[in-house]
Amino acid sequence: MKSYSKTLLITGGAGFIGSHVVRHFVRLYPDYLILNLDKLTYAGNLENLRDIEQATNYRFLRADIVDETEVFRLFRELRPEGVIHLAAESHVDRSISNPNAFIFTNIVGTINLLNAAREIWKDDWEGKRFYHISTDEVYGSLGEEGLFTERTAYDPRSPYSASKASSDHLVRAYHHTFGLPAVLSNCSNNYGPYQFPEKLIPLFINNIRNNKPLPVYGKGENVRDWLYVEDHARAIDLIFHQGRIGETYNIGGNNEWQNIALILKLCALMDDRLGRKAGDSEKLITYVKDRAGHDLRYAIDSSKLQRELGWAPSLQFEEGLALTVDWYLANQAWLEGVTSGDYQHYYERQYLQR
Ligand code: NAD
Ligand code: DAU
Repeated sequence: MKSYSKTLLITGGAGFIGSHVVRHFVRLYPDYLILNLDKLTYAGNLENLRDIEQATNYRFLRADIVDETEVFRLFRELRPEGVIHLAAESHVDRSISNPNAFIFTNIVGTINLLNAAREIWKDDWEGKRFYHISTDEVYGSLGEEGLFTERTAYDPRSPYSASKASSDHLVRAYHHTFGLPAVLSNCSNNYGPYQFPEKLIPLFINNIRNNKPLPVYGKGENVRDWLYVEDHARAIDLIFHQGRIGETYNIGGNNEWQNIALILKLCALMDDRLGRKAGDSEKLITYVKDRAGHDLRYAIDSSKLQRELGWAPSLQFEEGLALTVDWYLANQAWLEGVTSGDYQHYYERQYLQR
């Protein structure tokens, strides 16, 4: 049997960002054994990894990070030297309608992984690393000016961001108290292939294609900073290998868009791709009741990552958005697969009474 230079456990690897991270590591590091631990919730889908599932350096483990016994059993058996932790409940709207699931997975799940890593690493930190993936939403909401830096005080304002903030604090506490070799990053909004169509961009692509209303929350004035998902995966690789232990790195696209401006751009691109008359898709825009506690603006200062590790986003937004639209239009079977079943009930609860 082949021996590997490192066993790397990636949690949440069947989700949107996780699947890009798994694919990146499986392809770039054939001498690492990549273990993908995922519960396969509604957001996890092994179809996302079809192209690498036969790779000899890849294994899938179906497990729930909230199940402490199972997490300890897997760590004792597989003894990963590295952990990249992405598994989470990730959708803000779902955290408003059902906060408890976020507490279990995002907080209890994280502490189970921290405790299991501590147990098997037994204070011998040489060659070990626990990398926690977090979000810019922990910093709260910006006004019209300013950027989130790594020193911005935490001010989470949704159950999702509060649960992520809590997990970030636990990871830092395990570093300071026990010496666990942890590193963290906080990233802005990602977009790209395999994103579950509950999030703005894939939801709107799907609705435009099906001539369904485009539910814009409030006045569409909120601002997000968009990053192509593969640029995030590259940043994760750099931080995992070269980031300084105990440090946090902000990752962002330097690419701020007011929602309505982004939506108009997307409508124009879809008109072009679907051969529709210019202006057809934007007729689907429907202003609906705002998201409760809707953060106005997120924008990231990623200069620390750029300066220390030489990372920069590689794609212009126009390019990334075109790649994304083309991917969704070419992968209707994937979209239909993930939007059948439970998704219909979610969609009715979330939008039909707005
Ligand atoms: P996602 O919802 O697409 O995927 C989450 C994955 O975690 C799924 O595969 C799901 O099955 C798995 N999972 C959920 N609960 C689990 C449990 N209890 N045990 C094991 N696996 C479980 O999420 P995403 O958008 O890919 O986000 C991944 C990570 O990146 C999250 O930690 C999120 O907070 C963070 N993040 C996301 C964004 C973004 O724009 N999507 C931006 C910054 C940070
Ligand atoms: O900033 C990073 C975060 O980005 C991640 O931590 C989260 O996991 C990820 O879901 C994302 O959070 P947002 O709430 O910013 O993303 P979402 O795609 O849900 O919404 C983007 C913006 O679009 C936001 O201002 C709300 C708005 N929106 C969203 C939906 C789903 C609408 O106007 N209508 C919609 O139907």
